[in-house]
Amino acid sequence: MTGGKIMLVGIGPGSHDHMTHRARAAIAEADVVVGYVTYIKLVADLLDGKEVIRKGMTEELDRAVSALERAREGKKVALISSGDAGVYGMAGPTYEVLFQAGWTPESGVAVEVVPGASAINACAALVGAPLTHDFCSISLSDLLTPWPVIARRLDAVAAADFVVALYNPKSGRRTQQIVEAQRLFLRHRRADTPVAVVKSAYRRRERIEFTTLEHMSECDIGMLTTVLIGNSHTFVRHGLMVTPRGYANKYELHGDGSTLEGEKPGRSLSTGLLGWTENLRLDHAEGQSVAALALRHKLPADYIEAVLTAPVEETPTAEAASTEDSEA
Ligand SMILES: C[S@@+](CC[C@H](N)C(=O)[O-])C[C@H]1O[C@@H](n2cnc3c(N)ncnc32)[C@H](O)[C@@H]1O
Repeated sequence: MTGGKIMLVGIGPGSHDHMTHRARAAIAEADVVVGYVTYIKLVADLLDGKEVIRKGMTEELDRAVSALERAREGKKVALISSGDAGVYGMAGPTYEVLFQAGWTPESGVAVEVVPGASAINACAALVGAPLTHDFCSISLSDLLTPWPVIARRLDAVAAADFVVALYNPKSGRRTQQIVEAQRLFLRHRRADTPVAVVKSAYRRRERIEFTTLEHMSECDIGMLTTVLIGNSHTFVRHGLMVTPRGYANKYELHGDGSTLEGEKPGRSLSTGLLGWTENLRLDHAEGQSVAALALRHKLPADYIEAVLTAPVEETPTAEAASTEDSEA
């Protein structure tokens, strides 16, 4: 054992208030801090007495190699990323460099990934509650990913009605990717779908702009921007972007918001898997073809076929039903 350690530290969006206690402690216990110059500046007041290795934007692998070299000398190294180190950050490239160098978890250099609030969390918090239903993130950077791969993903998630966070939406050289993303989204989503453009969240030049899908690409978007595109239920009210969790689908909410009627709390919807399957079987028994059912439910025919031919599950016992997961 060399006693060396690499800590992959997510420092959060940029302000110390949003850095975790563990991230701060990891930097404090490090002999060496490695990072992109801008991120090093964000933690400048935590670096007294440490060796600091500043690298340029495209030198990700160099950062990992330097970290491994120092850790092999027995040093504790904090390799810092903005947000979360595992989200378009240094965690992946570092493990790749380590594996390439023959490292194993037993080989004397310990590795710890210290989680942080990613841009998607930070930007969502600033604009309201846009991620309360299914969401995903897509990076528009085509420096390492071919455009057709990115375009296919954009098209798929736009069709599937996810709330989407676009990372790396635009840079000095990459100006058209956001226009293409907009074009693909408009194939599936309404032009007035709410969009929030958040620049430099929790940093000095923070700026938030609400717009719509139709006007998204006209906004002031740069390297430090994350673009949040709502789903078909997302709305903006009193300057807050909110994606409903679905309570209004399940219960009838009375004017004063106090009385709940309709479906049962703690149980799947009547259109959840069990209820839906039951109705699907009934419709099929009444003569609706697999192809017609596939079209109606916008699902592949082979999936409908598989559901129809699967053995009928027994209704869960009262005991099993009492362990239903909670909804918030
Ligand atoms: C290489 S990715 C790094 C992501 C980072 N690891 C994270 O978890 O947030 C850089 C992209 O993250 C987003 N980003 C990072 N910090 C941000 C901030 N403070 N405000 C808005 N977007 C940010 C931008 O989309 C930027 O182009």
